[in-house]
This record gives sequence, C-alpha cells and structure tokens, in this order.
Amino acid sequence: MDTYLSTETEIPWRRAVLSVDQFSRSDIAELFMLADTLAAMPQKPLAGRTLANLFYEASTRTSSSFFAAMTRLGGTVIPINEVHYSSVSKGETLEDTVRTLECYTDAIVLRHYDNDAAERAVRVCEVPIINAGNGTGEHPTQALLDLYTIAKERRTIDGLTVTMMGDLKHGRTVHSLTKLLRMYDARLRFVSPPELRMPAEYLRDGDEQYDDLDAVIEDSDVLYVTRVQRERMQGGDKAPAFDFDYALTRDDMDRARDDMVLMHPLPRVGEIPTELDSDPRSAYFRQMKYGLYVRMGILAAVLGSI
Ligand code: NCD
Repeated sequence: MDTYLSTETEIPWRRAVLSVDQFSRSDIAELFMLADTLAAMPQKPLAGRTLANLFYEASTRTSSSFFAAMTRLGGTVIPINEVHYSSVSKGETLEDTVRTLECYTDAIVLRHYDNDAAERAVRVCEVPIINAGNGTGEHPTQALLDLYTIAKERRTIDGLTVTMMGDLKHGRTVHSLTKLLRMYDARLRFVSPPELRMPAEYLRDGDEQYDDLDAVIEDSDVLYVTRVQRERMQGGDKAPAFDFDYALTRDDMDRARDDMVLMHPLPRVGEIPTELDSDPRSAYFRQMKYGLYVRMGILAAVLGSI
C-alpha cells in the first residue's frame, strides 16, 4: 500500500499541506522564520478567517494547537473533533463532509485513519487541506515542528545523529521526520523490535537499525521516542506484546550526552517515565510550545495573508 500521496510534489504547500515532500530546505527556513516572527510579535492577520478542524481519529495536541494557533492569529475555528456526533455517523462520505465544510471555512485541518484521505479530500475541495495525520502515512506538520524543535534546541540540524525509537512501522510522525531529515546532513538510526521496523520505503543505504538502545544512546544528539500504536495492529489491545524493553531509564540518561535532546510526539504510554521530565534534556513539553508557533506559521502562510 502507498503510504504517501502521489500528488504531493505537484501541489505547492501553501495551497495544501499533504506531505513533507512538498517542502524544500528554503521553504522550511522561510516557515521557521515566519514561526519565529509570529511567536515574538502578536498579530491578528487571520481576523475574519475560519478554519475547520476535522478529526476522524483521537487528538489532543494537534487539534488544540491548531485551534490555539488560529485564534491567536485572530481567526475562528469550527471544531469537529468527534465525527461520530456529525453526519459522518449517518454514513456521509469524507468527500461530502469536506465539500460541506469548504462552504463555511477558509481551510480544513484533516486527520483520518485512511492513508489516502488527505489526497481524496484535496481532489474535491477548493480550500486548502492541511494533513494532520493520514493513517500510518504522514504527519507533516508534526514533523515540521519536530525539526523546528531540533533547530531551536541544537541551533543546527546538519551534522546531528538522530535516533528514533519505538513503533517505526505505524508511526506517521517518524515517517515524515525521516523524510525531512534526508534534506539535511543528519545521520539516522532506528531502534525497534523487528516487528515494528521502519518501512523499507523510508530507508536508505547507510541507515543503521537496532533492536535496542544500548549501542546508540551514548552518541545520539537527538533521541526521538514513540509509543507502540496498538490500535493499528490486528487484535488491537489484545495484539501480542513485544520482547522489547521500551521504558527509558535514568541509567540511559546518565549514559547519554549532556546536550542530547529527548523528544516524543506524545501521547506517551510508559516509554518515558515522568521522573525524567525534570531532566533539562527532556524537550517534549517545549516541543509542544514550538508546535504552536510552527502551526501559526503554517496557517498564516496557507491562508495567504503573510
Ligand atoms: C501522533 C499521531 O497522532 O500520529 N500524535 C501527535 O499528533 N502528537 C503520535 C501518536 O499518536 O502516537
């Protein structure tokens, strides 16, 4: 199954944000400058504009940060966070729901469990679609905020060793982040149980894959941890457990570099114990704040006023 979108490179990202493949390094630099500006200087460039948040899957951070970003920029939001209370429960198609919302809004943030959902939406919709997660495919705005976090915390991306650990098979954030990091001179390492490896389409010669963190913790500049996505596995919560000790320990952190950046897209379900939250290297709460600024930048750019 194609996990990414076939039209992504043809559509400019300011028209619809579908995949990280739409971004060049200079687009990213421009977006990050916009995020910096909007974070520092409150403005209301989106006054009178309306955004729809259309979420077919659970979300806390992505939906509320888009909501907060839009309202900080002076706009309003129609939140459809629980599609079961909308006409989706009556059998309405994604296409019809999207065509309805485009009558009332200037852009639609879409999260859906199907990998082709964002592309289907773009085909029928005049207003920009912002992909907030398409199944196990991509999560471009998360990856952009992840990259912004790395840039803020380390002042560079080139030359870093980035280790991703967890469910690399189903995690759309690590798929998008991997593609983005290919544009930089970063060394990538992937740590997962064999059943949850990074899909081949995202791998390149020279990538290193490991079964555990032991061999790589000491020289990682960034450690990006993700949860196991049981809801995407056959059998759901009843799917077999993995022979993989997930939880990061104080001992791991003692072995890690003093300037390592510990990231997680969240939610966490035990991979990072709360006792590590006070470690200055734990960046996952700062990561959310950076995400607000990046999403402000994306909205300002996509809605065309900046
Ligand atoms: C991620 C997602 O939805 O893909 N969450 C998020 O947007 N921060 C990661 C996850 O659900 O594990």
